[in-house]
Amino acid sequence: MPERTDHWSADRYEANARFVSDLGAGVLEWLAPQAGEHILDLGCGDGALTERLVAAGAEVVGSDFSADMVAGAVARGIDARVMDGHALDFDQQFDAVFSNAALHWMTDPDAVIAGVARSLRPNGRFVAEFGGHGNVAAIRVALSSVIERLTGQVNAPGDIWYFPSCAEHSARLERAGFTVDRIAPIPRPTPIPSDMAGWLETLAAPVLASVPEALRAQVRDEAAALLHPALCDSDGNWTADYMRIRFEARLG
Ligand code: BEZ
Repeated sequence: MPERTDHWSADRYEANARFVSDLGAGVLEWLAPQAGEHILDLGCGDGALTERLVAAGAEVVGSDFSADMVAGAVARGIDARVMDGHALDFDQQFDAVFSNAALHWMTDPDAVIAGVARSLRPNGRFVAEFGGHGNVAAIRVALSSVIERLTGQVNAPGDIWYFPSCAEHSARLERAGFTVDRIAPIPRPTPIPSDMAGWLETLAAPVLASVPEALRAQVRDEAAALLHPALCDSDGNWTADYMRIRFEARLG
């Protein structure tokens, strides 16, 4: 697993990626949080979606790898903690673990799933949505092609993201003692409010950080130019080629 570095900025996220939490309504419906339930929001970011769990009357803890994002969540009044999702430090204290658009950043999924299993009470549920196989495929290919041409580095973004098929992810959950009640691939072409340069700077920050600083703006701009015919319409609106996985699994 590559070493994890915190590339997140709450301000940049607010400007370029607010849509990520806005799109969490579907997975929230699957969670159906109940008043009084103890719920962990794994990868809570700045807490925009976590607030919805609190509003449902749940007792919520948020965790995120990024100190800047956790500060944003705490500013919303959420009990949020800086914690690596690969090393969750909870012991059978949650009725449910919830996660939106975060699991694909955790590239040792078996460690994450084991930590979720330790965090849940018997029969607890794990409900999440994240990037699945084929997610942002065009964006990955554009980045990898430009980076290889400019730096000679092959196969960037490599293993920065975990984008499994439903079958692969189900098998991992089952090996860890979960029963998968439902899992579905969700193709979701997603309009992005800024432009591709803003998306790349915010959501592909670790990929850009892996190239020499002097080349980052060029990588960003050349990748955006390569993607323009495929992902930008004639009115200048960009759409990212998202493919999600949504699942509900139960411990035991
Ligand atoms: C996603 O939410 O699907 C995503 C976010 C950042 C990079 C790649 C994909």
